[in-house]
Amino acid sequence: MGKILVTGGAGFIGSNFVHYLLETTNHSVVVLDKMTYAANEMSLAGLDSNRFALVKGDIADRDLVDSLVADVDAVVHYAAESHNDNSLADPSPFVQTNLVGTFTLLEAVRAHRVRFHHISTDEVFGDLALDDPAKFTETTPYNPSSPYSSTKAGSDLLVRAWVRSFGIEATISNCSNNYGPYQHIEKFIPRQITNVLSGIRPKLYGRGLNVRDWIHAQDHSAAVLKILEAGKIGETYLIGANGEVNNITVLRTILRLMGQSEDSFEHVADRPGHDLRYAIDGSRLRQELGWEPVFTDFEAGLADTISWYETHRSWWEPLKAEVEAKYAKAGQ
Ligand code: NAD
Ligand code: DAU
Repeated sequence: MGKILVTGGAGFIGSNFVHYLLETTNHSVVVLDKMTYAANEMSLAGLDSNRFALVKGDIADRDLVDSLVADVDAVVHYAAESHNDNSLADPSPFVQTNLVGTFTLLEAVRAHRVRFHHISTDEVFGDLALDDPAKFTETTPYNPSSPYSSTKAGSDLLVRAWVRSFGIEATISNCSNNYGPYQHIEKFIPRQITNVLSGIRPKLYGRGLNVRDWIHAQDHSAAVLKILEAGKIGETYLIGANGEVNNITVLRTILRLMGQSEDSFEHVADRPGHDLRYAIDGSRLRQELGWEPVFTDFEAGLADTISWYETHRSWWEPLKAEVEAKYAKAGQ
């Protein structure tokens, strides 16, 4: 039994991980979260205060980070600016949080010799052609496209350098696109679900042929826990569940599951520099650590997710008008 510091634990994947840890282990959890627009305290409501605490603060605050890291057995680092579209509008918080914030955490785990797991993305590898049979592996060269993915790539490289130069005990995971409960409604799947629930026509960028490799956030959490417990120090693990689907198919499936005509959406301006396809070869994680996804039926996972947004209107409804106003300004 140990104490784990989860950065960004009030965001989408971090909050899913906090729930997963508290439900499946005896660990206690301290969340460090700046509570940016992407955080939601309701995602952590009702957790057992004997095993859980929320600290509101910045991962780039050296003194705060140092005092928290000194008091835990491990750090799992989710905190980031995470949305590509925002990084195109203003890259500056991405550089500050994803690079300077990660650097600040690395210095604290170096000083206190604390186990560190860094959460990253498949976007560090850039994109694949639609007709390319290849998938990303642990040895694919980095080639990020956006300010978001380039700052995540930089943060991964910082972790690798701190392992090699200072001998910190760290692992890295690069995961594909997550879906599930507690995801901010700026993101594709919850944006379209809440559009339908709000009487707004869903919005598809460009022709919608871009492919994403979907994994349920709970499967991601289980993989991260495996790596934390049994991953080899200094190694990188790719996390994916063979969930490649193009955007127009995802959108049509959402519409069908919600009882709408599959054509009731609008094509809007494409994302500049829009990555075509991501695909993960997750065989190393399966073979070495025995992880397997539970949510293997994407349509069933989507139906659960739709039902979560239907029954948690108070979680997302206050955000909807502002998110859509921001997209409208960008013609999206
Ligand atoms: P999110 O935007 O939903 O949540 C990010 C959280 O980090 C928020 O709670 C926010 O308040 C917090 N945060 C931001 N800046 C901070 C700072 N300076 N100090 C402390 N907290 C701060 O993001 P998410 O989708 O949950 O992604 C979490 C992590 O997983 C990120 O590192 C992201 O790169 C990675 N990831 C995401 C996906 C995906 O599909 N969403 C896939 C692979 C990897
Ligand atoms: O691959 C992992 C990455 O997945 C994570 O690192 C990022 O943090 C996460 O945001 C996600 O990035 P994407 O850019 O792939 O996700 P997003 O939800 O923004 O978009 C998914 C796809 O849907 C993408 O091809 C753009 C498209 N899209 C998005 C929105 C918001 C639309 O067609 N319409 C939309 O309204």
